Amino acid sequence: IRRIEDADIAGKRVLVRVDFNVPMEHGRISDDTRLRAALPTIQYLREGGAKVILAAHFDRPRGQRVPSMSLAPVASALEDLIGAPVKFVSDCIGPDAEGAVQLLQPGGVLLLENTRFHAGEEANDPEFAAQLAKLADLYVNDAFSAAHRAHASTERLARLIPSYAGLALQSEIDHVTAALEAPQRPLLAIVGGAKVSTKIALLKTLATKVDRLFIGGAMANTFLAARGHSIGSSLYERDLLDTARAIEDAARSANCDLMLPVDVVVAREFKAHADRRVAELDDVQGPEMILDCGPETVDRLADALAASRTLVWNGPLGAFETPPFDTATIEAAQFAAKRCREHGLTAVAGGGDTVSALNRAGVAGDFTFVSTAGGAFLEWLEGKTLPGIAVLQG
Ligand code: 3PG
Repeated sequence: IRRIEDADIAGKRVLVRVDFNVPMEHGRISDDTRLRAALPTIQYLREGGAKVILAAHFDRPRGQRVPSMSLAPVASALEDLIGAPVKFVSDCIGPDAEGAVQLLQPGGVLLLENTRFHAGEEANDPEFAAQLAKLADLYVNDAFSAAHRAHASTERLARLIPSYAGLALQSEIDHVTAALEAPQRPLLAIVGGAKVSTKIALLKTLATKVDRLFIGGAMANTFLAARGHSIGSSLYERDLLDTARAIEDAARSANCDLMLPVDVVVAREFKAHADRRVAELDDVQGPEMILDCGPETVDRLADALAASRTLVWNGPLGAFETPPFDTATIEAAQFAAKRCREHGLTAVAGGGDTVSALNRAGVAGDFTFVSTAGGAFLEWLEGKTLPGIAVLQG
């Protein structure tokens, strides 16, 4: 991959594709992790005397100028983080954007308006990409979490001017590659979340790559049902029972130990602090729903963690947004964090819910690496080529 460190940046106009698709509540940024992730590249460029032009999408305006999807609030938040002015321009192409770039001094920072206000962005339109290319001498992609999109600012633009991987993008690639392609074994994967359907490709790939695969969350219910266990009124995907069996078969042929919950926490209603009990498998009653893994399962997962040298984690183990059904996720996360601190476990985690779960458990900082990406992290783990990265190679 072509790295930003190989570029001659002094005095150059450098357009950096960042991912500022941050969660907002009432017009304020509620989690600035993605802004912070972009800081090393921004500072590297400023210190090297480059003129920094930041381009990003926000939400899904589908080619319309939707005022509530403006990146304007991000400019001031970024200013605080950088400790220097960040100019904002209300379009990402055209005369206003070009004028704002002309006024940039070396070390200056300009944030362009939401690229998705133009339909050409998601269409990966060459004309729109050419308009972006006019703004800069060099292109840097620092948005791993948007690299699975073949859009104008993540893909086409990189073909038009010299293009490089930014520091955050490199770090994401290096960590995820190290964990999956040359891991220290045994390698354990924990996959959770609600639906098997969104993670079929991921589970199939992991079953052939990892030594142990633990499946939790509501998606485990589909596997339990496929094994013939009673799951009461639990959420599951009836049409994926055969898929679940095929994944089990794939794991068996690859000598991957596929672990499912051995006990579960059940309740008759799904609400915070509902009456609940721990049930053995096959003791789940008709009206009961499985909402978390039980304590015996967490113990077995802890044993598996203690026997592993590398962990890849995506997705919560229970209905973690509704306490106390976050218990198994939090306990497992805390145990993994302890193994990282005290026994050199390499732990890589990613996916939106996973990151919030680790933050809730207070252990994100102990993990070796926490990816800022959702969909891109999954596609990378699945072994797919990400267009935004492929274009920077060779
Ligand atoms: C994300 O938030 O995962 C990325 O910014 C991609 O956003 P998208 O799913 O709207 O393309």
